[in-house]
Amino acid sequence: MAFMKKYLLPILVLFLAYYYYSENEEFRPEMLRGKKVIVTGASKGIGREIAYHLAKMGAHVVVTARSKESLQKVVSHCLELGAASAHYIAGTMEDTTFAEQFVAKAGKLMGGLDMLILNHIAQTSMSPFINDISEVRKSMEVNFFSYVVLSIAALPMLKQSNGSIAVVSSMAGKIANPLIASYSASKFALDGFFSSIRKEYSVTNVNVSITLCILGLINTDTAKEAISGILEAEGAPKEECALEIIKGTALRQDQMFYDKSLLTYFLLGNPGRRILEFLTMRNYNFDKFINN
Ligand SMILES: NC(=O)c1ccc[n+]([C@@H]2O[C@H](COP(=O)([O-])OP(=O)(O)OC[C@H]3O[C@@H](n4cnc5c(N)ncnc54)[C@H](OP(=O)(O)O)[C@@H]3O)[C@@H](O)[C@H]2O)c1
Ligand SMILES: *[C@@H]1O[C@H](CO)[C@@H](O)[C@H](O)[C@H]1NC(C)=O
Ligand SMILES: *[C@@H]1O[C@H](CO)[C@@H](O)[C@H](O)[C@H]1NC(C)=O
Repeated sequence: MAFMKKYLLPILVLFLAYYYYSENEEFRPEMLRGKKVIVTGASKGIGREIAYHLAKMGAHVVVTARSKESLQKVVSHCLELGAASAHYIAGTMEDTTFAEQFVAKAGKLMGGLDMLILNHIAQTSMSPFINDISEVRKSMEVNFFSYVVLSIAALPMLKQSNGSIAVVSSMAGKIANPLIASYSASKFALDGFFSSIRKEYSVTNVNVSITLCILGLINTDTAKEAISGILEAEGAPKEECALEIIKGTALRQDQMFYDKSLLTYFLLGNPGRRILEFLTMRNYNFDKFINN
């Protein structure tokens, strides 16, 4: 016990220090020049800021959301900012067929794909869950299932380019908060699914990175409206948030965190999960699944 008390904390601190400071490659905006990128949920909020940063970096972008008028504006501003090319394809991610066709069309427009940024969410409001099953279904369809469909559709192109997927999630996909049960369920689902296939990719030599983006409260209009009168908090800036998502994804990090509080980075590191995953992986035999 005395040993544990004396050494456990320093060991934990060392582990976390290694975990957070082992990223040695530095981000350079040139990394995105000429890259072919899809951004979903890009008609407003964080997605739109991501598209603007990419445009400034000289990337090709295809943006999507439901609102055609907003997307048109985003595309013309992207061109002003210096995008190598900018297009939009409007539609709803409730429709699986649209999701699949969208990826194919976007790939054709750009002649390939380097980065898939999954960011859209169904509209949600904060309230206690009573019995609205259709809301749970819709959250799962739009916030989770369409992400799966989009990634599967994009995988052949991403394999060719050694590309990257960004999965935009939330603190609510890591910890439980009240009043957002459906949203939270869909964000936890993203972690389970994408963290699992990331492990498969690593052993089957699929060189497509998956970056799970864990965001705290961000100052988008949607978030401000949703928390008003319920949560007393100020969101972090969406412009910086968008840039950090691009950086983490370009550096092929497994996860990136963006929150106002530094304590969050420390506490969400979850060394217990990482150690257990490492130990469990050692018991597997993947020979059956590796084709040379
Ligand atoms: N803001 C925050 O505090 C916060 C915190 C943690 C995580 N996040 C995450 O960050 C991401 C972006 O959030 P945000 O605050 O920027 O949201 P936002 O401003 O509300 O943007 C959501 C985007 O999704 C699109 N969208 C909505 N329903 C759709 C549908 N059925 N099919 C296709 N597109 C649809 C919207 O455009 P249309 O309405 O035109 O379709 C819009 O472009 C989300 O994944 C969110 O979970 C945000
Ligand atoms: C992808 O990575 C492999 C292995 O590092 C490399 O041989 C190949 O040239 C890369 N392809 C592209 C398009 O970067
Ligand atoms: C995977 O692709 C990236 C980007 O092209 C490259 O830097 C890296 O060396 C590749 N890794 C492997 C194991 O092929």
